[in-house]
Amino acid sequence: MATFTLPKNSTIRKDGKTHRAEGASRVQKFKIYRYDPDSGENPRYDTFEIDLDDCGPMVLDALFKIKNDIDPTLTFRRSCREGICGSCSMNMNGKNGLACTTAIEDLKGEIRITPLPHMEVVKDLVPDFTHFYAQYASIRPWLQTVSPTPNGKERLQSPEQREQLDGLYECILCACCSTACPSYWWNSDKFLGPAILLQAYRWIADSRDEMTGERLAELEDPFKLYRCHTIMNCANVCPKGLSPAKAIAEIKKLEVERTA
Ligand code: SF4
Ligand code: SF4
Ligand code: FES
Repeated sequence: MATFTLPKNSTIRKDGKTHRAEGASRVQKFKIYRYDPDSGENPRYDTFEIDLDDCGPMVLDALFKIKNDIDPTLTFRRSCREGICGSCSMNMNGKNGLACTTAIEDLKGEIRITPLPHMEVVKDLVPDFTHFYAQYASIRPWLQTVSPTPNGKERLQSPEQREQLDGLYECILCACCSTACPSYWWNSDKFLGPAILLQAYRWIADSRDEMTGERLAELEDPFKLYRCHTIMNCANVCPKGLSPAKAIAEIKKLEVERTA
């Protein structure tokens, strides 16, 4: 039987801090993953009790409450607080999502918050997106053309052509899907994962782009594209209701047509 050794300082200590909400009327317990690679210490779960009568309704509100009133060292990303920037993606009670659009009352029992799974952790709830962004850059996520712009000003689309981008352009690159995908967990060095493949298809499906053949040729690879086994975790977790699995299936279809 194969045995694996965990990297140094990777096991979670059980003895994190507990902060009690004395005298609170409606107590909600949050168990939050804490890790600071620079400290040389193992990760731990800290427990924070929050009075829901003194806190906004979303998970992000609770994180702010903890950071502002209890522990200023708690580290997390956020910006828009309305599901647009994709910064506050994290795992809440075992499911990836956006902290700013996840209501506390929709989560049952003690709420456990961890960073997105299978990413290196920069600190606490902040994962390292360096590799994810490098994969994004690799698909050249911009309009590529060779012909001169028809009227010298703009490239037009019909309403029908524009509709082809629905379900794609809304992606906020939060990585909830990629970090929920088992194939991406084990092969993220080579498999592009659902988020980046959905973005790749966004440009393939764009009637104005003139590099479709090159884009498809680039993706025709046993690892980049074909590690997707249609497990569908990606579509189940996408906070924008998108289906990367469907986009991946469309790319696979075009690959077959291209080489038929
Ligand atoms: S459908 Fe494909 S990309 Fe989506 S979670 Fe499954 S294997 Fe990953
Ligand atoms: S497809 Fe959905 S889950 Fe994946 S990165 Fe885009 S918005 Fe996030
Ligand atoms: S803070 Fe921007 S998506 Fe949550």
